Amino acid sequence: MSKTVLVTGGAGFIGSNIADELIDRGYKVVIIDNLSTGLTENINRKAKYIKGDVRNTKDLDKVFKNKIDVIFHIAGCASTIKSFDDPAADLNTNVGGTINIINYAVKHKVSRLLYASSMTSYGVPDAVPVKETFSTRPIAYYGITKYAGERYVLATGLREDMGFKLNATAFRMFNVYGRRQSLTNPYQGVVSIFIGNVLRGEKVTVFGDGMQSRDYVHISDVANAWIGAIDNKKAFGEVFNLGSGIRVSVNELIDITLKSFGKNRKTNKIVYKAARPGDQRHMQADISKAARMLKWNPRIKFEDGLQDVINWAKETK
Ligand SMILES: NC(=O)c1ccc[n+]([C@@H]2O[C@H](COP(=O)([O-])OP(=O)(O)OC[C@H]3O[C@@H](n4cnc5c(N)ncnc54)[C@H](O)[C@@H]3O)[C@@H](O)[C@H]2O)c1
Repeated sequence: MSKTVLVTGGAGFIGSNIADELIDRGYKVVIIDNLSTGLTENINRKAKYIKGDVRNTKDLDKVFKNKIDVIFHIAGCASTIKSFDDPAADLNTNVGGTINIINYAVKHKVSRLLYASSMTSYGVPDAVPVKETFSTRPIAYYGITKYAGERYVLATGLREDMGFKLNATAFRMFNVYGRRQSLTNPYQGVVSIFIGNVLRGEKVTVFGDGMQSRDYVHISDVANAWIGAIDNKKAFGEVFNLGSGIRVSVNELIDITLKSFGKNRKTNKIVYKAARPGDQRHMQADISKAARMLKWNPRIKFEDGLQDVINWAKETK
């Protein structure tokens, strides 16, 4: 019998892409999403969709009427900037929502829970590339709540007083990019924000000097890691970086994007503004732990993945 996976946030960018892949691989999928940033059109028609909020236990009662074998807890406030604008909302969703999901997992004896953590857990890293063993000192409010959620999930997995074992895994995802990342939402990923700007002939705004760097990992590589870890006992109780292991500066990202559109800095305006709070200067994942324990390696080259998003953006324009 195929397993049923609950994907929270399954109408969003990461959740919907992973839900599609799960269904393609023969899993049954249940989705809960409150559509705060997710879109109905992203929801796979073969999934069972419950419109609801992970903060609301009545909604979770409906979800857990289904027999769930595995939880992918992906719903969350995904914006650093919004976390500074409204820290309580970020806290309630990312920590309160995660505690609710844990409570329901325990109550319904769902023994496998995978959690969407973030590279922002590290804050200013000890060095790059960052290993999972490095200090976690988040500097963005968002990073604090993602890291707290991670600790709740893993600490529950250590409990021996429940008469039940929760096998938890946390993925510290770096900059995930791919199709369905919003081309218009300024709070989502920088790749799609820039692509949206260039596509519409708008100026591109860079916060800081553009020399800051990020590690971009394609959504299909991320989906492979999550799904591949479901039954992998080595992943139980563990944290994994999911990145490409390669660092690209924001200025490089702009130049590659412009080039893909046949444009350059003379034909598309770029403006530089002051850096924003919570911005990490350089980020790059050390992905050797996932390679060793999960036999996972990212396959999509950044230039190819970027071109795919650009093709999609042109189609959906
Ligand atoms: N995109 C990245 O690069 C990245 C990196 C690290 C971690 N993450 C984490 O991955 C997750 C998904 O991010 P994304 O980029 O797909 O963003 P997204 O905004 O597209 O997805 C989040 C989804 O969760 C839903 N949601 C939000 N609050 C909810 C609530 N209270 N109840 C039910 N549903 C709710 C939204 O409607 C949306 O569909 C987030 O938890 C984010 O923190 C993302």
